[in-house]
Amino acid sequence: MKITVSLIKADVGSVAGHVRVHPELINVAKQSLEEAKKKGIIIDYYVFNAGDDLELLMTHTKGVDNPTIHELAWNTFLKAKEKAEELHLYAAGQDILSTAFSGNVRGMGPGVAEMEFEERKAEPIVVFAADKTEPGAFNLPIFRIFADPFCNPGLIIDPRQHDGYRFVVVDVIEGKQIELSTPEEMYDLLALIGHTSRYIIKYVYSKHEDIGIAAVVSTERLSLIAGRYVGKDDPVAIIRAQHGLPAMGEILEAFATGHLVKGALRGSHHAPLLPVPLKYSQCTRFDGPPRIVGLGFCLANGKLIGPIDLFDDPAFDWTRMKVMQIMDYIRAHGPFEPHMLSEQEMEYTTLPKVLERLKDRWKPYKSTPGK
Ligand code: F6R
Ligand code: MG
Ligand code: MG
Repeated sequence: MKITVSLIKADVGSVAGHVRVHPELINVAKQSLEEAKKKGIIIDYYVFNAGDDLELLMTHTKGVDNPTIHELAWNTFLKAKEKAEELHLYAAGQDILSTAFSGNVRGMGPGVAEMEFEERKAEPIVVFAADKTEPGAFNLPIFRIFADPFCNPGLIIDPRQHDGYRFVVVDVIEGKQIELSTPEEMYDLLALIGHTSRYIIKYVYSKHEDIGIAAVVSTERLSLIAGRYVGKDDPVAIIRAQHGLPAMGEILEAFATGHLVKGALRGSHHAPLLPVPLKYSQCTRFDGPPRIVGLGFCLANGKLIGPIDLFDDPAFDWTRMKVMQIMDYIRAHGPFEPHMLSEQEMEYTTLPKVLERLKDRWKPYKSTPGK
């Protein structure tokens, strides 16, 4: 049976700043998706939050980019936005960039990760949702899951993973994409995806036709869509696991590093990524640290069995401690790079105004002091 898993998210307002989605917004979204489930539009759903982002996980048989599913998500976000306005929540409607729906939520503000595949007899999946960061934050862990044997030993010792994977990488500035195969083209892949603001892993495919798609990441960049900064493009991803694909542990291992990502405070800082359970899915210190939640499910003819709150585990306590140590260290740099992003990458800056005010006070540089 061919099943589509759609994870569509938007920030439509949050409590106490850009901190956390209000439970009433989650209820509004649940009601909306429950109605759609009763009407047979979707098979199943799960609503959750990643910090200030409302996450709609849906299963159905309509394929990716389906107008009915996208309209359902869009209308659900509009209902949640109304509730956010009623409660005077902060930044109500932040990611609703358009007033009229035109068949697809891409380019309208929400982030989308969708995949269609033949459901296996047992179909374990994990959905990840991060807050206060950007889609390129997934480049490093997705590379390590699907191409680094020091993270995923299955690449060496599992006969099917041993053949490697195909990666689709998007250039989000020029709007084009390329397919690269690992392990053969690993260095070319790394030459691109190390530049996390421009080259973003969108899809990963198994080289085995019967398995097909393995991972998908949202690549919407709000700043590029709107031509101006309108909020963080906080990303989501879906990964299939086991039986010829990475084991769940080989996937989660990639999040034990607490790697540095872009997007903390005012979208203008590097900070380490903190893996958290749903109960801690709220951004606090320094509007962060950027956080990620991971929910594991099995599919049963599209029905979502689960979730397992995968980072709700002492195995990630050490990562969390390490991340907070890194946070203290990087915070000590204050308004200096590399804590602060480069001039071109900052989403808030006063630099043009400061330069304008100081423009007449610059003098030609002289190498001899006092002359
Ligand atoms: C939001 C984010 C936050 C905000 C910051 C300022 O996703 O990254 O760090 O940028 O709280 O928000 P405003 O300008 O709304 O006061
Ligand atoms: Mg927000
Ligand atoms: Mg957010």
